[in-house]
Amino acid sequence: MKPWPYPRWIAHRGAGQLAPENTLAAFRLGAGYGYRMAECDVKLSADGVPFLLHDATLERTTNGRGIAGQLPWAELSRLDAGSWHSPAHAGEPLPTLQNIARWCRANDRLLNIEIKPTPGAEAITGEVVARHAAASWQAAAVPPLLSSFQPDSLHAARKVVPELPRALLLDALRPGWLEQAEALQCVAVVCRHTLWDAALVTQARGAGLRCLGYTVNDPAAAQRLNELGCDGIITDKVDLFAPE
Ligand code: G3P
Ligand code: MG
Repeated sequence: MKPWPYPRWIAHRGAGQLAPENTLAAFRLGAGYGYRMAECDVKLSADGVPFLLHDATLERTTNGRGIAGQLPWAELSRLDAGSWHSPAHAGEPLPTLQNIARWCRANDRLLNIEIKPTPGAEAITGEVVARHAAASWQAAAVPPLLSSFQPDSLHAARKVVPELPRALLLDALRPGWLEQAEALQCVAVVCRHTLWDAALVTQARGAGLRCLGYTVNDPAAAQRLNELGCDGIITDKVDLFAPE
């Protein structure tokens, strides 16, 4: 198995819930707690700009309305993605993938880009995210890890930039998951943490896949994954778990 260049601990959406998720403020905070790597969710604006947002719609985490992927970046860039969280973060903007890439490279932080397409935009999102990631991390010692629940997104990413590492996200063990991960030439599977057990770790490892779990927020669950020999833990609790 190839050496694994990523740290064990990964800050979910930048810094879990301590700052507005998927914003630069969150990335700064996660890094302040010593996290060398963060996960974020990326989708496309209507005019094809990759930016950070978890939900398909804007209401929960911004002052905008409707389907994010139907608005051009010029409109999305004016939204407040911080006030929903706390007054201290009022006015925090939605970042583009390029904003985050620049910050990660300037601050020596690693990134797990979860490709989170607007439904119906699976392939184009995988393609555009991979192209942007390749351009932003040109000549980087450690490339970003691209992950997705959507095989079509990973397939498209692989087609345009095969050298960027990919991971299949699984919230359940659907039949054929292993063959799918192998066909996509993934380096890892990122499972809902409760799915991991010794048999699954053996199966994944046997196929040359690293084993990561999300979203681990209590110490007993983290210890369980460590004892199983998992390679990565994605957590919201950056203030609870001290990264190695
Ligand atoms: O990438 C791991 C995790 O972020 C997947 O779930 O819904 O938090 O994006 P979600
Ligand atoms: Mg995610």
